[in-house]
This record gives sequence, structure tokens and C-alpha cells, in this order.
Amino acid sequence: MAQKIVAGNWKMNLESDEAFQLIDELNTELEESDVRVIVFPPSLYVLPLSKMNKGSYEVGVQNFYTAESGAYTGEIAIDQIKSVGGSIGLIGHSERREYFNETNAFLKEKVDVAIEKDFDFIFCCGEPLEIRESGKQADFVKLQLEESLFHLNAKQMEDVIIAYEPIWAIGTGVTATAEQAEMMHKDIRSWVADKFGQETADKVTILYGGSCKPGNAEELFSCANIDGGLIGGASLKSTDFSAIIKAF
Ligand code: 13P
Repeated sequence: MAQKIVAGNWKMNLESDEAFQLIDELNTELEESDVRVIVFPPSLYVLPLSKMNKGSYEVGVQNFYTAESGAYTGEIAIDQIKSVGGSIGLIGHSERREYFNETNAFLKEKVDVAIEKDFDFIFCCGEPLEIRESGKQADFVKLQLEESLFHLNAKQMEDVIIAYEPIWAIGTGVTATAEQAEMMHKDIRSWVADKFGQETADKVTILYGGSCKPGNAEELFSCANIDGGLIGGASLKSTDFSAIIKAF
């Protein structure tokens, strides 16, 4: 069975007092549930947020580097993240691919390091608008998975969490319809099944991201192949984020 996950990607938002206030509110509002809840704050806040954690969420990082340690100014390593309470990282968010030139080949290296270090990750994929308009979105997303994930073995693959985030839906207020999202999620699961077998494919968690809000979360999460969401803007308001979690 795939996990149920709702994760909040705060991106480069919130100053420390605002971040602490949001976490205080989440500590009050989140209830025990079978949904795995993760927040991805700017990495500066991972340590204090881990210390403030009352147990209803995990704290992750939006980015990490592939090297173990050393002369890599500005970068952070998995062991450092673990040492401050971070338990999971995003890999390949479209904003990192676009603004920081992260390629499928480089993301494959991140995947390998995360697995070697036993560090959970959410692998992000998704097509830009022009690819969607040309109807080639399935080929585009399949290549992202093939080039960064499909070298794994079935045992490694079954723990992978994938987030499908169509770029045209990120921060635009234009959500993929439940039908469009489910179609891609179903394709992703079938490519994983073709490569690794159905049993593995059924265990892979596939999240949707892109203008997911309290008003559309329930419809998205009720789709057979949508196992949760990676939430941007709506994760910055505790009431919206908790309403999305409750949508399960
Ligand atoms: P929005 O929910 O703001 O569209 O962002 C989605 C996203 O990029 C999460 O990683």
C-alpha cells in the first residue's frame, strides 16, 4: 500500500517569527491521523522547528547536496540535515531544475546519495506549459523518471515518493483537473509497474502538487492513484494546510 502524505513546501517564504508562529498553530491544529505530514521550511529553520515539534509532523529540507562534507560553499549535506532533525528532502523541484539548472543526471546522483544514506526523499517531476500544449506531457515526465529513478532496483523503488507537479499549475491558481492529474498518476504507476512489477508500483506513493487548496483537495485525493499532495502557497496558512490534511 502506498503511504498517505500531505507535505507543505514553504519555498523561500516566511521570516523566523512567522515560521515559528505557523508551527505553533500546526502543533495546536493537527490531530492524530494516518496521514504522514511533512513540512519543508527553508533549511535555516529545520533545527528550531524540529525542537518545537510535538510529534504530528516531520521536518524536511527543500534541497541538499550530493557530497558527504567539504569545500562546497553554500551547500548542505544529508548527515548535517539529519543532525538537526531533518528526516526527508525534496529532489528535483521544478524551481530547482529551472533556476539552478538541476538536470535529470544530477538528480539521479541525489537519489543515489539519499538511498545510500537511508534518507527519505520526494522526487518531483512535471511538465511545462508548452509541453502540455503540445500533448507530449507523458513522454516528458516518463523521461524524467527514467533518467533519475529507473536505474534503482525494485526494493529501492518501492520506498520512493514521487510528486507530480505540472509546472503550469504551480503558484498559478490553475489546478490540473482531477481527471488530468489522475491520468498522469495512473501513467506513472503503470510505467513503474512495467519496469519493476505491479507489487512495487502499488507501494510507490504518488503525490499531486500545483495550486492544491482546501477547495479542491478532496476531489484530487479521492482519485485512485493520487496518494496525497505537495502543497505550496496553501501550506503557509495553518488553517488551509490542516483543512487539506483533513480532506483525506
Ligand atoms: P503551489 O501549491 O503554490 O501551486 O505550489 C506547489 C508546489 O510547487 C509545491 O512544491
